[in-house]
Amino acid sequence: MAGCAVLCLAVAAAGARADDVERRVEDLLGRMTLEEKVGQLNLISNGAILRWDDIPEGKAGALINFNNAQDVARAQKAARRSRLGIPPLFGLDVLHGFRTQFPVPLAEAAAFNPSLSRLTAEWAAREAAYVGVQWTYAPMADLSRDIRWGRMVEGFGEDPYLGSVVSAARVEGFEAGGLTTGAKHFVGYGAGEGGRDYDATLIPEAELRDAYLPPFRAAIQAGTMSIMAGFNSLNGVPNTVNSWLLTDILRGEWGFDGFVTSDWAGIHELLAHGVAKDSAEAARKAILAGVDMDMMSGFYIKHLPDEVRSGRVPLGVVDEAVRRVLRVKFRLGLFDRPDIDPTRIDAVFPSPESRQAAREVARETFVLLQNRGEVLPIRSDVRSVAVVGPMADAPRDQQGPHGARAHAQDAVSVVEGIRRRAAPARVTVNFAAGCNLFCTNTDQIAEAVAAAEKSDLVVAVLGEPQEASGEAASRAYLTFLNRQPELLEALVKTGKPVALVIVGGRPVELGTFVDSIPSILMAWFPGTEGGTALADVLFGDVSPSGKLPVTYPRTAGQLPLYYNRLPTGRPTRSDNRFTLGYMDEAISPLFPFGWGLSYTQFAYSDMAFAKPTIAAGDALEVSVTVTNAGARPGQEVVQLYTRDPVASRSRPLRELKAFEKVSLQPGESRRVTLAVPLERLGFHLDDGSYLVEPGEIQVFLGGNSLAPSAGSIEIADGLHIAPGEQRAAATFKPRL
Ligand code: BGC
Repeated sequence: MAGCAVLCLAVAAAGARADDVERRVEDLLGRMTLEEKVGQLNLISNGAILRWDDIPEGKAGALINFNNAQDVARAQKAARRSRLGIPPLFGLDVLHGFRTQFPVPLAEAAAFNPSLSRLTAEWAAREAAYVGVQWTYAPMADLSRDIRWGRMVEGFGEDPYLGSVVSAARVEGFEAGGLTTGAKHFVGYGAGEGGRDYDATLIPEAELRDAYLPPFRAAIQAGTMSIMAGFNSLNGVPNTVNSWLLTDILRGEWGFDGFVTSDWAGIHELLAHGVAKDSAEAARKAILAGVDMDMMSGFYIKHLPDEVRSGRVPLGVVDEAVRRVLRVKFRLGLFDRPDIDPTRIDAVFPSPESRQAAREVARETFVLLQNRGEVLPIRSDVRSVAVVGPMADAPRDQQGPHGARAHAQDAVSVVEGIRRRAAPARVTVNFAAGCNLFCTNTDQIAEAVAAAEKSDLVVAVLGEPQEASGEAASRAYLTFLNRQPELLEALVKTGKPVALVIVGGRPVELGTFVDSIPSILMAWFPGTEGGTALADVLFGDVSPSGKLPVTYPRTAGQLPLYYNRLPTGRPTRSDNRFTLGYMDEAISPLFPFGWGLSYTQFAYSDMAFAKPTIAAGDALEVSVTVTNAGARPGQEVVQLYTRDPVASRSRPLRELKAFEKVSLQPGESRRVTLAVPLERLGFHLDDGSYLVEPGEIQVFLGGNSLAPSAGSIEIADGLHIAPGEQRAAATFKPRL
């Protein structure tokens, strides 16, 4: 009873707050002029382009690129001088850290550990909120199956389930740390043709609903209050004018009551997309489709008052957009907060605690791709290590793109981290960059070879500088940049054992290096504590436990390449020519999705299903005993994949449905139970409805996407959910 009393009071209080918000929104809306309303829909940037008078004139509903307390305080003061004193919303791209940089989002997906993703988002938010930032344009919930796309680094890889879990965890973390979120880029932006940034996307509706929409829906269920419309067109309709996406699905089916913003000048881009003849038409089409806020095209502020007065845009549409924006402002308590203290500075970060968190998270993100002859961890008889490569001493670049307030001097470089760990162990470190940052020169190779020759082991640290990854950094060639292959080849030729550490935002095409280099560790952009975290793993203080969130191709010509592909009528290539594949390359990846080695080994035994047959309300539940069969402590990501072998349409060969990361001491065993609710075992049809069909579901359980069969279960009776009923279906909650 007592529990109910507390709970009931809490529910009543939440309800009252929601009513109160709506009441305050209506009251304020009733007092606004048309111009003031449109001002709330205008998002403008700090910098030389900012006209500060726009703020007291009520023309700046939201402000972007305000990243310090002095600017925020000045703008808040200016807003108080406006007629109604409505506070602006301050936004910034805070993706994987503010001052302290955590591993990039793709790396965090590789940790397969949503509680870490939540934790680092909370850290990032706390630091940003400290200087007055209130809103982040994150998480990037875009799934992508093509690593040529440079922005893959900002998201969570190729899998809809992993993407949903991490998106939700990051929304929760950001919100807990004091930032409201803007999940982006709705939707399909990661599927640009040819892996090209900004390019058109063509995605059938069933596929959109099965693969691309779920991470956004998960972000909304976790509480994201805004959504950013992507630059891309989807099936011929630019997202910025796509009312089916922004109104029918987002608001109608999912009940989203936050606001939608365009991407940077996305409304302006409608002219180039060829769907608006002038800026007035662009503004009109965008607002009618459901874009509430205009980021940096200036078309709303310029045209919407006249569009309304002429009757081309109903006033009700503008009112509704303003309501959505004000609702978020009231929910965040912006009207009731004091202004930011302008003496606050971000130099109070990184703190010892944020550094510790960054280090602990980073070492969970590294993926040990191969380790022939156990070159890693560095053996105790190794007395000298050559640390070679431009990325070994790149404290700025190792922090990755979108570093918010990243400072190079905050970061512990790879060579510095190794030096700190090597010194007490009396291991000599011989450092040579080998070439400049982009590796356009060869005159430093001799020095690198000399360092290698006088060492017992070579740690080569190569990959992508920051500018080679991220927005507008799509690549047609995925080989090591410029002269890096020559440097690596020269190191291999010394005959010394080489451990290759790849820094960057995506897999690099390894070519023959996969044969000539025994140990390869994917380190992504590891952040501020990248060097210490790498030293922890290279020296074996911690075993690597990351798993690939993307399929690692052999060559760019295989792209797009992803594990959850559909079957075809032909087997994969064999001696028979008329089979699926290439004349000149295998169709299989170099390393599959979910792949990653440890310094120890894990054994799976005693798999058991809770029920052989499941029906509505049940879950597919499987238990397995996982044992650390090696000599070192380690963490394993237990992964459950399913396949629907006979369905009314072809279903993917494998789909990740659940995972759990477990930490085990040598010899220790743990019983792990993974459950998948029946309603997550279905698929969409092209009319938007969702179907779970009766029949067999095959189950695969193990440490990567090639996991062996664990048997099958039967679905006794299925489900059919019409598009309008989607809101009730498959509610998403990550297990943190
Ligand atoms: C990007 C967005 C980003 C925005 C604001 C755009 O170019 O596509 O992801 O949030 O700029 O910085």
